[in-house]
This record gives sequence, structure tokens and C-alpha cells, in this order.
Amino acid sequence: MPKQLVDKFGRVHDYLRISVTDRCNLRCVYCMPEEGMQFEPDHRILTYEEIAEIVKVLAPLGVRKLRLTGGEPLVRKGLDQLIGMLSKIPGIEDIALSTNGIYLAQFAGILKEAGLTRVNISLDSLIPERFAKITRGGDVGRVLSGLKASRSAGFDPIKLNVVLMKGMNDDEVASFLRMTYEEPIHIRFIEYMPIGYEGSGWKAGYLPLEHVLDTCRRLKWSFSRCEDVYGNGPAESYRLEGAAGTFGLIHPVSDHFCGSCNRLRLTADGNIKPCLYWSDEYNVRKHIGDSSAIEQLFFKALDAKPETHEMAKALSGEQQNHIPTVRRMSQIGG
Ligand code: GTP
Ligand code: 5AD
Ligand code: SF4
Repeated sequence: MPKQLVDKFGRVHDYLRISVTDRCNLRCVYCMPEEGMQFEPDHRILTYEEIAEIVKVLAPLGVRKLRLTGGEPLVRKGLDQLIGMLSKIPGIEDIALSTNGIYLAQFAGILKEAGLTRVNISLDSLIPERFAKITRGGDVGRVLSGLKASRSAGFDPIKLNVVLMKGMNDDEVASFLRMTYEEPIHIRFIEYMPIGYEGSGWKAGYLPLEHVLDTCRRLKWSFSRCEDVYGNGPAESYRLEGAAGTFGLIHPVSDHFCGSCNRLRLTADGNIKPCLYWSDEYNVRKHIGDSSAIEQLFFKALDAKPETHEMAKALSGEQQNHIPTVRRMSQIGG
């Protein structure tokens, strides 16, 4: 049996989320403060060659699926070159992108050609003024053009990520769901998570995703669980009767899915994060050039991975068992 990335709880890790930059062209309210963000200087960011070197160590250990995140991954120049390098690594089967979609109209075709297999696009409101408010300046029209370009480029499935926030976009659930009647799109509603949330109004904005199912019931729209759309993440899928697309629920706070966690994270500045929520990090950048040290560090990180996060305790105020990360979501990549 070849060596695999299995943790103390028997979870097999075959998925790596790679943040390629902590910078972003937007400033979403749940992700980054409006001002005062300190970005990593270029010399502390992993080069594409270094990222590929790390993935070359992990592929023989069973990592098959990669997701490029940020910040916004498309603000980093030449992302297609990285995709080209990663797609040539034996064993890598899926290279996906999480993006805000602003630059997709320009890059979708190039990325597909380079070997990108899938795109997930953040889209928290369909109302232009509201979208601009949530993203602090974004143009929803550009995201919708990006979505169209992704479809023309042949990406399938395409998923839209909607972070649901009380008093902000919770009245748009029906509009998003209606999109699934019309086109084969996959809308995923996501619970607002308390990551780097000090002072950001998280508690006031958090809304359990039962709200989505309640909306369907209120509108008397029939829905049922359906097979999960191709993906590596935690969404639970549903389909409205007669709909071309699906909707998914990602509910880390109200009902966590840590028992089936299959992923590790690599930050843009070269730290392994075994769990999104906790502060533990392992600096792999200093081991570049030494594959066996890189491998050992991944096993060390895995060995220290807690069984679960404790986001719900951030809500109740109960004492937590480890230290939550102080990084912003933009520095982790979701
Ligand atoms: P697919 O491969 O298409 O299933 O992608 P994904 O859902 O794994 O990736 P995406 O970047 O689109 O993430 C969607 C949401 O799920 C984001 O809000 C992520 O932060 C969240 N998410 C992904 N993985 C985890 C995880 O391990 N724990 C928690 N709590 N949230 C996660
Ligand atoms: N809670 C939930 N999802 C978040 N994302 C960013 N910050 C948060 C948060 N605090 C989402 C983005 C993107 C994905 C990678 O993570 O909207 O779709
Ligand atoms: Fe995995 Fe941590 Fe996410 Fe839970 S919060 S699913 S353990 S990364």
C-alpha cells in the first residue's frame, strides 16, 4: 500500500487548496477589512515553481485534486503558467479555481486551454447596488460576463458561491434558486463563517442555512436531495422539481462536516494549514529544495490536525479547545 496522507481520525487527504495570493481586487465585507490590510511582500510569496515542487511531493502521497484560491487568484500574473505546470504532474486529476469572476471574461478561455478543469464563482447578490456594497465596489455585470465566458469556454460544472448574510442578501434566496430552473447552474449557499472575524459583525450577520429550505417551503417549491455535483468539497446537494441546475448547502457552523474532511491548505506565503479554522501552521517555504523535509512537514501538520473546528462555540461564547486563526479569509483562501 503506498504511503497516504491519513490523519489520526482516519481521514484520507487527497485535496489541496492552494492560495496563490493574499491580494484581491475586491474587499468583500465577510473576508477583508475595507482598509489597513497588510499584504505579503512578493519575496515571501511562493513562486509557481515552488508550488509545483510541493505538489510533486504530495501527488505520490495521494493528492489528486487541487483548488487555486486567493485572495483573488486572477490578480496574480500568469496563473495559466501555474495551471500548465500542475496539470503535467502525474496523478493530478482535477485543478479547480475559486474566483470572484471579475477577470473571467478575459481569462476563461486561456485557463481552460492551460488545463483548468472547473471554476467556482463567488456571487453574493444579483442586485447591482447591493453587490457593490457587499464587495465594496464590485460590478456584478462583470461577474455575469465572466460566468458567460466560463460557459462558452466549456467549463462544466460551474458553481456559484453565495455567502448568506442576515439583513444583507437573505431576501435573494428565491432569485438565486430561480436561476437553477432556467440553466444548468449549481448555486451553493454558504454559512457565514467566523474566520478572522473580530469586530466584523459576524454574529449579527450569521444565518443558519435552514433559511434556504424554509424559503422553498414558503414558496411551495418542491425539492429533494440529489446526487452531489462533481466536486471535492462539503456541499450537500438538492434539486428543485423540474430544475436544470441544483442548489447546495455548505453549513460549517450549524452542522459541521469535519468527519469527512479530505483537505489541506497551503497559504500564499508557504504555510501548511491543516484546518481552516485553527491557528496551527507549518512553514514549508523554508524546506523548498528538500522533498523529504517537505513530506515530513505535511505528515507533522496532519498529525496535529484537530478532529473538528468549533465555530459554533464562537456563537455561544463557550471556551474553545484550541486557538482560532487570526488570519483573514483572504489570507487562507476559504
Ligand atoms: P468543490 O470541489 O467544487 O466542491 O469546491 P469547494 O466547495 O471545496 O470549494 P470553494 O472554494 O468553492 O468553497 C466553498 C465554500 O466552502 C467556501 O466558503 C469555503 O470556505 C468552504 N469550505 C471549503 N472547504 C472547507 C472546509 O474544510 N471547512 C470549512 N469549514 N469550510 C470549507
Ligand atoms: N464565510 C463563508 N464563506 C466565505 N468565503 C470567504 N469568506 C467567507 C466567510 N467568512 C467564501 C467566498 C468564496 C469562497 C472561497 O469562500 O465567498 O466563494
Ligand atoms: Fe476540515 Fe477544519 Fe474545514 Fe472542519 S473546518 S472541514 S476540519 S478544514
